[in-house]
Amino acid sequence: MSHIETIQVNTEHKMIPVQLHTDLSGLSEEIAKLPGVTSIFLITERSIHSIYTKYLEKELLPLGIRFQEIYIKGGEKAKHIEKTGDVYNQLIKHGADRKSLILAFGGGVVGDFAGFIASTYLRGIRFVQIPTTLLACVDSSVGGKVAVNADLGKNMIGSFYQPEFVFAPLFALSTLPDREWRCGQAEIIKHSLLSGGEYWEKVKAHSFQDLNVDSPVLPYMIAESVRFKASVVSSDEKETGLRKILNLGHTTAHAIESVTKYKKYSHGEAVAIGLVTALLISEEKSGLDPVTTKETVESLKNYQLPFQTKLKSKELAKHMLHDKKNVGGSIRFVLLEKPGSPVYDIPVDSRDIILNIRKQKGLG
Ligand code: NAD
Ligand code: GLY
Repeated sequence: MSHIETIQVNTEHKMIPVQLHTDLSGLSEEIAKLPGVTSIFLITERSIHSIYTKYLEKELLPLGIRFQEIYIKGGEKAKHIEKTGDVYNQLIKHGADRKSLILAFGGGVVGDFAGFIASTYLRGIRFVQIPTTLLACVDSSVGGKVAVNADLGKNMIGSFYQPEFVFAPLFALSTLPDREWRCGQAEIIKHSLLSGGEYWEKVKAHSFQDLNVDSPVLPYMIAESVRFKASVVSSDEKETGLRKILNLGHTTAHAIESVTKYKKYSHGEAVAIGLVTALLISEEKSGLDPVTTKETVESLKNYQLPFQTKLKSKELAKHMLHDKKNVGGSIRFVLLEKPGSPVYDIPVDSRDIILNIRKQKGLG
């Protein structure tokens, strides 16, 4: 049996099951439940697809529905508005219609890109998220944010567009490079801090080595993260309020990525550093006990993630002012009062940010 657990995202207009499976078996049954699918378009990266072709074909061929692969290149450069034209043309050439189904098979890049294509092709056709990275399992495949990049900003063109379902085949993580595992683990640490309670205790008690495809800890942590994110998205799909908490650590992370032109740090590494900045500011602004910051730094070490950067604090603060999530001139932060009690939209002036990033440089 492949099924591990299903967690529901309930938005105003749609119920989206997020299914955790050991492998891909059962995918065909789930697709067969969708009414009237006439053709399937598998949007993926060639390198990921080549590892899992036989498993995908085993599921898709018996359906007797025409299917076609469409390959995109990997990385942020490929997740660009300019790359969409070729994919739309391939869909048109292969006769994709309103009853076609897009399968997004890959990490967050494929999921965001293919979801964006699904949301715009013929004003929206159905799609399914099949996440193959830890980050995509716990974060990007859940919640319906789809987007592509513009020259001047990441994820600047997109929408909220929910998949029919998410099917996470955890065996795909067996081929994931260590750095990508760490990326997902940074989001797991973020979710556990936001969620607090038993999840935070479990995350603290484990480390990088414990999260692997053979460990029972892995499905537990993925399920807890998905459950947490699903509950947040279910109450605020369009990020008018509560959903903003999911950006804990992201204000600094985006600045780090932008200053280093997305080359030095992976997103997860930048989030890890950003979490510590947010916690140090939380100590001053929202009464966080410094013990939580210490424990977070210890956990980041245990999960082999960075917790500080040598980048200039002034330069980072300058980039934060350009973040699309800021209103007017003030920099808005998500902060923590304690694990499980986040607050959002807290204005923090750049002087405080600079001082705390400097303080962060002295941690260790
Ligand atoms: P990614 O999609 O670039 O994947 C990371 C690397 O792993 C790539 O090189 C990819 O080819 C490789 N890979 C993927 N699956 C593999 C597998 N099973 N085995 C071996 N290699 C594999 O990166 P990501 O971290 O999954 O996603 C990052 C993207 O997600 C960013 O663009 C970010 O903006 C987006 N994101 C979106 C949301 C959202 O809510 N929509 C949330 C978080 C992040
Ligand atoms: N990754 C943040 C969100 O989905 O809202």
